[in-house]
Amino acid sequence: MDIRIIEQAVKDIQCDALVVGATYKKVGNQAKELILSATAREVDSLLGGLIQSIYAEGEFKGDLGELLTLHPMGKLAAKRIVVVGMGPEEKIHTQVIRRASATATRHLQQTGAHQVALALQSEEFNLDFDESVRAAVEGVLLGTYTFTKYKQSNGNGRGITRIDLLVNGASNTMLDQAMRHAIALAEATNFARDLVNEPPDVLTPSELANRAGTMAKQFGLECEILDRPEMQELGMGGLLAVARGSSEPPKFIILRYRGAPQSPGKGMALVGKGITFDSGGLSLKSAEQMQDMKTDMAGAAAVIGAMQAIGKLKPAINVTAFVPATENMPGGTAYRPGDILRIMNGKTIEIINTDAEGRLVLADALSYAVKENLSPIIDVATLTGGIAIALGTIMTGLFCNDPGLSNEIIAAGQVAGEKFWSMPLDDEYALEIQSDIADIKQTAGRLGSSVKAAKILERFVGDAQWAHLDIAGTAYTDTKIPYQAKGATGVAVRTLAELVLRRAG
Ligand code: BES
Ligand code: MN
Ligand code: ZN
Repeated sequence: MDIRIIEQAVKDIQCDALVVGATYKKVGNQAKELILSATAREVDSLLGGLIQSIYAEGEFKGDLGELLTLHPMGKLAAKRIVVVGMGPEEKIHTQVIRRASATATRHLQQTGAHQVALALQSEEFNLDFDESVRAAVEGVLLGTYTFTKYKQSNGNGRGITRIDLLVNGASNTMLDQAMRHAIALAEATNFARDLVNEPPDVLTPSELANRAGTMAKQFGLECEILDRPEMQELGMGGLLAVARGSSEPPKFIILRYRGAPQSPGKGMALVGKGITFDSGGLSLKSAEQMQDMKTDMAGAAAVIGAMQAIGKLKPAINVTAFVPATENMPGGTAYRPGDILRIMNGKTIEIINTDAEGRLVLADALSYAVKENLSPIIDVATLTGGIAIALGTIMTGLFCNDPGLSNEIIAAGQVAGEKFWSMPLDDEYALEIQSDIADIKQTAGRLGSSVKAAKILERFVGDAQWAHLDIAGTAYTDTKIPYQAKGATGVAVRTLAELVLRRAG
């Protein structure tokens, strides 16, 4: 897809569809007033007030994501006008632009438009210009994403080939920067989505390592893949135990980006859970619970995706990513409930349920990051069904041992269009993960399971500043939504990348 910036009279823009935005204001208590963006206002007057009159009749209300298609019949060069609703004025936010842009372009892609002009940001909306441009561009790339490589008829010929972003009177360097930024983050998100959407027979731990390696080469990162013998040497008892039930060999993937080679600090660490398929192991999942378990590497995908964006944008900071990758399978040599494992940092864990495998592989990866003196450490994992029960598919659970870091993540998420909700790490939750025969008991019942899982991870982060993002509810969607394809969401890629860019200053 070709994305360009244009400055042109609205009447003369040649395209299959011109997308403009509209929000509304409450007047007094009841009646509302439609507020058109600058471009929408021009379109309205070229069409003799058509948009306002359609609004007056109640056919279009301006609700977020609502689409109104008009055919100007030669009054403008554009073949179609799409007015996209942006919801009430008081709730306008750059995330609204991202959603509106995604919804409109996704709709246009499905209805035969190839060349699209987009004019969503407007002074009327009082939003940060740079963030608005970014949100509009990200919306296009995120909204039009599809995963059709395994379909014989994969929608060829239906795609959008060109986006013209209509922006008036903006400085070019600022715009170019915003575009570069948006494209890097959105493409990295889509890369992560591809990894998650791949079927588990294709995306094995070895294939995940291959794809990370290929990406690293392309974006100038160092990539190191540890195999079983090196894991044994390092004492990665968690990862090795989980891998024992599978015939696929485990891989420990390390990606290094050195944007500040002179800096005295070692930099930050990103850690992603990379279970390429979670059958539950001997504590086997039910068929229904197992259905989407190819997504259990979405944390790995988020971290690898973020590293791609970082490699592309080259901030002045050092970042290292660690991905423990394996299947969790119930083979004859599988690890068992009752086993006691020794993690890389020497701590032992008594196994209760082999389906609580994520914390075991993460324990090794976190220990590795601590051994390298990295801080902060941020891990991303589809860790517990409990977080999906608590927060649903909208917000990611955020567990953090440092209020400053927690605020940074929430703020980066706001710019990236991703939501995080702070969860507790109160010490009383750890009472139940005490073991009689090992240092730590692996699980303790369903109540507050996300918090107890986080309390286990906490035992492996040493003195580092640390945040744990439980994306089990937000990584994947199997309901149809207007702004995004079913399947992987690529959650956390943009927030992590944004956080890193902000830290680099
Ligand atoms: N990968 C699952 C968590 C999960 C559930 C991710 C649903 C995405 C959607 C994890 O390994 C798991 O099985 N967790 C168990 C832990 C339990 C056995 C203590 C859970 O949360 O039920
Ligand atoms: Mn599991
Ligand atoms: Zn899992």
